[in-house]
Formats: sequence, structure tokens, C-alpha cells
Amino acid sequence: MGKYSFSLVAILLLGFLVSAQNLPTDYLDSNFHKKRREAVRKLLPPNTAVVLFANAERNRANDVDYVYHQDPNFYYLTGYKEPNAALVMFSETQADAAGNQFDEIIYVQERDARAEQWTGKRLGVEGVKEKLGFDMVFNGSEFENFPLDFAKFDIVSFVDFQNDYRDKNGKADLFDLIKTFKEKANYPSDYNPIRNDVYSIISEADASKMEEVVKTVERYLNRYEDLKEDEFLNDFVNAPNDDLRKEIKNKVLLIQRENNLDSKVLPMAMAKLRETKTPEEMKLLKKAIEISAVGQIEVMKAMHPNMSETEIQGVHEYVYKKYGAEYEGYPSIVGGGNNGCILHYIENNKTQIGDDLVLMDLGAEYHGYTADVTRTIPANGKFTPEQKAIYDIVYNAQEAGIKASVVGAPFQAPGRAAYEVVAEGLLKLGIIKEEKDTRIYFPHGTSHYLGLDVHDAGTYGPFKANTVITVEPGIYIPEGSDCDKKWWGIAVRIEDDILITEDGPINLSGLAPRTTEAIEAMMKQPSPLDNFKLPKLD
Ligand code: GLY
Ligand code: MN
Ligand code: MN
Repeated sequence: MGKYSFSLVAILLLGFLVSAQNLPTDYLDSNFHKKRREAVRKLLPPNTAVVLFANAERNRANDVDYVYHQDPNFYYLTGYKEPNAALVMFSETQADAAGNQFDEIIYVQERDARAEQWTGKRLGVEGVKEKLGFDMVFNGSEFENFPLDFAKFDIVSFVDFQNDYRDKNGKADLFDLIKTFKEKANYPSDYNPIRNDVYSIISEADASKMEEVVKTVERYLNRYEDLKEDEFLNDFVNAPNDDLRKEIKNKVLLIQRENNLDSKVLPMAMAKLRETKTPEEMKLLKKAIEISAVGQIEVMKAMHPNMSETEIQGVHEYVYKKYGAEYEGYPSIVGGGNNGCILHYIENNKTQIGDDLVLMDLGAEYHGYTADVTRTIPANGKFTPEQKAIYDIVYNAQEAGIKASVVGAPFQAPGRAAYEVVAEGLLKLGIIKEEKDTRIYFPHGTSHYLGLDVHDAGTYGPFKANTVITVEPGIYIPEGSDCDKKWWGIAVRIEDDILITEDGPINLSGLAPRTTEAIEAMMKQPSPLDNFKLPKLD
């Protein structure tokens, strides 16, 4: 009883202290991250070590860096938001020389009063133990001398570190941590993780599926410049028969046994886990999505033809911040008229929208989770007949795509359903003459997973319950297109965030009007910004 009341008092006290500092209280808690680490361990083959690094800090110019953002995998597994850190996990419990048992180690940034005066407080070893619930925590500088024998593991898996991190001359920065890992893991200087992945595909190839494997290897060869000269891959693809392929497979197997490095096991485990969301994640993801839908609503109310693309972007982003969303989940896209035809247009510098359609693809990031919502609206509040004709095709395509987003359906189902509607609609309007030309005006896929990343990790297998995807068909008719001029400069994308459940799809961003009628009605509503006047500046 004494212990119980003590912890209750401690929890109340902690709650009081956090709220007394006016900090958000709805972050994922350390227990969430701990459970996710346990889930990863369960997916690992026996005798495996995995290593994950914090995201790199990236320089903007001179002594100013871009705003730091943690790597989503690292955040998912640790909750640690600082740079210069590494997480090592093991499939089985390990013991050190003193007999201490552990199945994970985290190396973090060292406390440094001077650095913290400039760039903010660090958790340090004690903070990570106390706030993030790790037992084995060290400063990054201790990684080098920690007796960790990677050679004894069958598999040492890591997420490929892109070579875009710099040696900042700090003690144990990301550069040093990766260097230490490479030394400890006997990382060959010519190691190519992608080549290693293709070699694994070949060495695991089932004799009955050789044809499929050849096609996969061909795809890699076409896609990756630095694989094009690889002797084994070319021999494998060009071999006249499967007997020869078997010989090559054996050679590849031998090469692979020269080291235990792998960059498939950990990413695949992460994809599998991150594809479906836990209730704690859903709470934050829903909030990010609803914030973004409200942003679209407020912009619909505030919109007028004199607005600039930048100003429209600012209204969305202000709404995000008003709700406490820290960032945008990706650079905001606001394209008036022809600018909407550039799929990821982020210049957003047209000074007056005029009477064009405005394509607005934006998403708030709330405590790590990002939305991805697109609305396309007429700046003057009324769709022209041509704009409406295109809009309605996209709307119907999206409806078909959402309907196809059901448990068990292949990942491509919404895209196929949407494509059919767009093809039929463009043919009917005479914008294309043959169905095969549909992709000229609808040049992208329809769906991706959504979560910590805007294009989130997942397996791209059949849909599972508790997965959130986007459904985002679009039609883009740039000026100069091979069709009647009256369609030129019309670009429409409608994008919603769909939760897949056993009981069918749920539109989480449906709060923002989607039909032409509902959009026109919303645009007639007054906006608090109608009376927001600023002084004229030269
Ligand atoms: N906003 C990027 C996308 O829709 O995928
Ligand atoms: Mn999207
Ligand atoms: Mn988008």
C-alpha cells in the first residue's frame, strides 16, 4: 500500500512538474518505444545484432544547420530526439565480463554545458536512463572501447547510412560512431549494401522461381548505376540455363559468407512493424490529420484571387502551429493554375493566384506523425465548367480508390480502381484518344503508407487492418498539352488519409470538404483573416 501511494504521488508530482513547465504532455511514452524494441527483437533471426544510427545534422550555410529531425526508425525505437546517437540491439540476451545481462545498448550525446547554452538541453546518459527507460546507456565516446564482438553474430543488420554525414570535429559525432561501427564490424571498404541485398536475393533463390529472380535482378541492374558492371549479377542475368545460374548462386553464397553484414533484416522488420499503427500512434496521427483538414477549411474561408501562393502556405502552417504541430511533414505544395501540374512544386512564389485553381498539398507533423492532405479549390470561389469536369473525374476516381482500400486487397487496388475512372473520364472528354495515354495526365501512383514519414515504411503487401494510406488521384494538364486549349493549366489532385479497418475504410481527413458543392459553400463562409490588415511596406 505504501509503495502504491508513493508511486501515485510520484506520478501526480511528475504530471504537475510537466504541466508547470507548460510542455506538451501527449508524446509517446517510453513504454511505447520499449515495446516496439521488444517487437523488433521478436522478428530477428537467431544470433543477430542490429545497429541503428540517429539522423545526420545537415548544414544549411556557414554555421547554420537545417532544423534537426530525428530518423523515424530511431525515434520509433527510442524516443530520443537528439543527433549523434546509436542503438545496438541483440536477438538474445548478452552478458558482459562482469556478468551484467543486456539485450540493447544506446550511445548518446554527452552533456556539455557550453554546447547546451547555444543549442539547447541534452538528455545525456542519466536523462536517457530516467526519461527513456534504457538501462545500458553510454556516451558516444565509449562506443569505441566497448568490448562488442560483432564477428560472433550470424547477422549484423543495419539501415544503410547514406553518405551524407560530415565529421564535425566533435567528440563522437555521427561520423565517428559510424566509423567505429565499420571498424568493429569489419565493414569492407568496397561494401555496397544494395549489391549485398541483390546477392542475398540470388543466394536465397528457390530453383522453381529462377525466372522471377532473374527479373528482380534485372530491375536492380537497370536502377542502380554502380551495379551495372557487377560481374556476378550480369552473369546471372545472362546465363543460358538454370544450371549455370546455380553455379553463380554458389559463388555468390561464398562471397556473402565473407562477412555477416546485412541491410535487409532490420529494414524489413521496421517496415512490418511501422505498417500497422498501435492505438497510441493512431491518436497522434489522427490529430495531425485533423489539424491539416482544419488548415484546408480555414484556407477555403480566407481564399481570394489576390492572395499569393506563399500567403496561402502561411495560413495552413499557422493553423498547424496554433494546434501545437511542430513541423510540416514535408515541404508544403501550393500551386496556382499551371504550377499545380508540377507534382512536388514547392517554390510557392506566384504573387497572385487570380481566377485559377489552387492545388494545396500540405500536412502537419504532430509529435512525429504526419498528415498528407490535398485539396484543389478555385481561388475566386466558383469552379468553371471545365474545372468542374476535371475535378469530378478525380473525385470519382478517389471514391473508387477509397472503396477499394479494404483488408486483404493488394496494395495496388486503389490505384487500379482510380486509373479506370480517370481513363474513362479523359476519353469521354476527348482529352485523350486512347486509354494507353491516360498516364500522360495521371502520371503517379495513388497510395502510400502514412505515419512517422509521409511516405511511410511498410511491406506493400495486401492491406492489413490499422494501416493508414493516402488515396490521391490527380489529373494535370500543363499548358501546351496535346488537347483542346480550354483544358490547359487545369491541375487537380484530391488526397485523403484513409484508415483501413476490418469494417472498411475510414476517411480521417474527411472534415475538409471534397465535393465541388461543399467547397464552394465553405468558401462563402467568413474568415477571421478577412479583417487581418497589415501596413503597406515599400
Ligand atoms: N505530399 C507528397 C505526396 O502526396 O505524396
Ligand atoms: Mn501523398
Ligand atoms: Mn500529398
